[in-house]
Amino acid sequence: MALPGTTRANEPAFGNGGGGGRKHFLDLADLAPATLREILDLGAAFKRAAPPGGDPAPLAGKTLAMIFEKPSTRTRVSFEVGMRQLGGDVVILSHSETQLGRGESIADTARVLSRYVDIIMLRTVSVAHLEEMVQHATVPVINGLSDRSHPCQLMADIMTFEERLGPIAGRVVAWTGDGNNVAASWIEAAVRFGFTLRLACPEPLRPPAGVLDWAASEGGDITVTIDPKDAVSGADCVVTDTWLSMGEGTGEDRSPEERIELLTPYRVDDGLMALAKPDAIFLHCLPASREREVAPSVIDGPRSAVWDEAENRLHTQKGILSWCLA
Ligand code: CP
Repeated sequence: MALPGTTRANEPAFGNGGGGGRKHFLDLADLAPATLREILDLGAAFKRAAPPGGDPAPLAGKTLAMIFEKPSTRTRVSFEVGMRQLGGDVVILSHSETQLGRGESIADTARVLSRYVDIIMLRTVSVAHLEEMVQHATVPVINGLSDRSHPCQLMADIMTFEERLGPIAGRVVAWTGDGNNVAASWIEAAVRFGFTLRLACPEPLRPPAGVLDWAASEGGDITVTIDPKDAVSGADCVVTDTWLSMGEGTGEDRSPEERIELLTPYRVDDGLMALAKPDAIFLHCLPASREREVAPSVIDGPRSAVWDEAENRLHTQKGILSWCLA
């Protein structure tokens, strides 16, 4: 199901089969809760070295193409290592080093790549590029981050929460900071996995109305406040993200100085963490700034789960790849 305001109109509700039976991984809102759980279970099985069906290399003979319009460490390495561990191969294409950088269309790139590879992952500056890729490719497409969402990150975040604290359904997660693309995927996750999400964002950096309206229409338990203390009090998990990202934030028209001024009250420090539950964990998708959004004592402290979170990108990418190509 495409969120309001998107043009991804050809996908059916829980659109796993749009475009010739392809299984895309584009947004959590597109997928049924049971499908998301299946993908997480696949990732967990690979993590336990207990692959489904006993085959440690189920993607032998398959090739993943990854296109990066923006920088990446975790997404790039976890997909590459994950694909190779599953027996497959990888081609990495940076925007600037291909004909895309000289003006060749995404549509033509999609048509051509589909003749060479079995699946495409795109990290893009614009969700419109992702939609064009889906429309013109004939192989499954994975959203490796767009200006609107970061669904692969959320699969790792949910896995990490559940490893530390048990089932996430019915629990409380607090987001503090920019209502950006990662926050939007947390909103979709709250609906699909059935947990409460409290977002604390400065008014100019609220999450987009479209995703909040969608969550409300789905019965999601989601609130937005300007007070980080309200959001964090009694939470099981506190999450934040970088303040100066790669241009995909809701306030990308603002200067870094303006963003820092707006977001400084939302920094996660020991005082804020003290308001969460005693066993609450801290998550951050990384890269992090210890001078800005999180204090060193939090991200490097005992309640931080960020290194498990980063590791789980590898395991959940394997779940996503094997589900898409099953
Ligand atoms: N969290 C995340 O997507 O990291 P990268 O930008 O390094 O891929």
